[in-house]
Amino acid sequence: MKEKAILAFSGGLDTSVVVKYLQEKHNMDVVTITVDVGQGDDYKKISAKAKKLGVKKHYNIDAKKEFVTDYIFPAIKANALYQKKYCLATALARPLIAQKVLQIAKKEKVTSLAHGCSGKGNDQVRFDLTMMAGSSLPIIAPIRDLNLDRATELKFAKKHGIKIDNVAKKFSIDQNLWGRAIEGGVLENPMNEPPDDAFIWVKTKNLPNKPIYLKIKFEKGIPVAIDGKSMNPIKLIEYINKKAGSAGVGIIDHIEDRVVGIKSREVYETPGAACLIEAHADLEKMVHTKHETKFKSMVDDEWSWLVYSGLWEDPLKKDLDKFIEQTQKPVSGIVKLRLFKGSLRVVGRESKNSLYSHKIATYGKGSNFDQKLAKGFVELWGMQSTEANKLHNKK
Ligand code: ARG
Repeated sequence: MKEKAILAFSGGLDTSVVVKYLQEKHNMDVVTITVDVGQGDDYKKISAKAKKLGVKKHYNIDAKKEFVTDYIFPAIKANALYQKKYCLATALARPLIAQKVLQIAKKEKVTSLAHGCSGKGNDQVRFDLTMMAGSSLPIIAPIRDLNLDRATELKFAKKHGIKIDNVAKKFSIDQNLWGRAIEGGVLENPMNEPPDDAFIWVKTKNLPNKPIYLKIKFEKGIPVAIDGKSMNPIKLIEYINKKAGSAGVGIIDHIEDRVVGIKSREVYETPGAACLIEAHADLEKMVHTKHETKFKSMVDDEWSWLVYSGLWEDPLKKDLDKFIEQTQKPVSGIVKLRLFKGSLRVVGRESKNSLYSHKIATYGKGSNFDQKLAKGFVELWGMQSTEANKLHNKK
């Protein structure tokens, strides 16, 4: 009997090349699966493309809801920004896609798992490690194994009649509900400003002359309503992506350290993530003690790093999940954002669990904060520093 591989298939250049390669060089039957995480592709077209490539069976799986509730929401709770900038859109989707691949792999009784990742990126790490956490089947990664570059792939695609659209020729794009990553082409020179046509979610020209205000309501760390309107999780993220994008908010351009050691120039459009993480982090600061805030930011950083580097299934990541979940109990309230010509600012917040006390903080009359107590506190607080400075000054 012929060997059978399952491949996560996007319909793009890499995965199309991999289908042909598995069939021709490995003499395998190929089952493809496309997981909808909100990338907004034409799934009928992808399915037709897979069939045209001669796959045995193609699955299309709608995982949008799961993606939001089980991957994006935990990222919001963790204020997850890798290297303070990147909201992990691609990094969050990969373990979910890998899980779906494993489910179908079982059903189809395949003999190998395959993916279209290159050996230079982070996605290979995420796919490999999530797959290895749930299966011992061999993993085939032809782009990596053959050291293929884009030009060679394009040639191979042409030879096999695989059609590639124009955007894909200009940039390498990966997108889902949480963000859009744009790489390659002119962006590979870190000094080149991204051209306007790199962006489709965020407006870069003729921005509105009036600010947009958004009131985001959180319950236990999860966004549940905007401007008083409750929305289901998917709608909420789509809505905020649109709104913030229309105000020019959400472009990230930075130098990123990949897991494999490469420094890369990464450009993202992540309007919804920018707003939700900024708002969530602000609300946390109102309801957490300073000790919680300080410690949690270290946990958040570690969580982001683990997820970025493909360790979604690592026990430490799961332990941190529990800690983070526990911290979200008081994170309920409303945050007001002002979006204007590409800038994003929190301009108000309220919570029934607020630790902010006007009575204590006010510079006005009637505060119950006894300033006299502060004198002794400051002396004790700085005691060792003061002693040390005295000593150094003597020398
Ligand atoms: N640098 C980002 C990451 O590793 C985005 C990569 C997106 N591009 C891609 N072809 N998958 O998550």
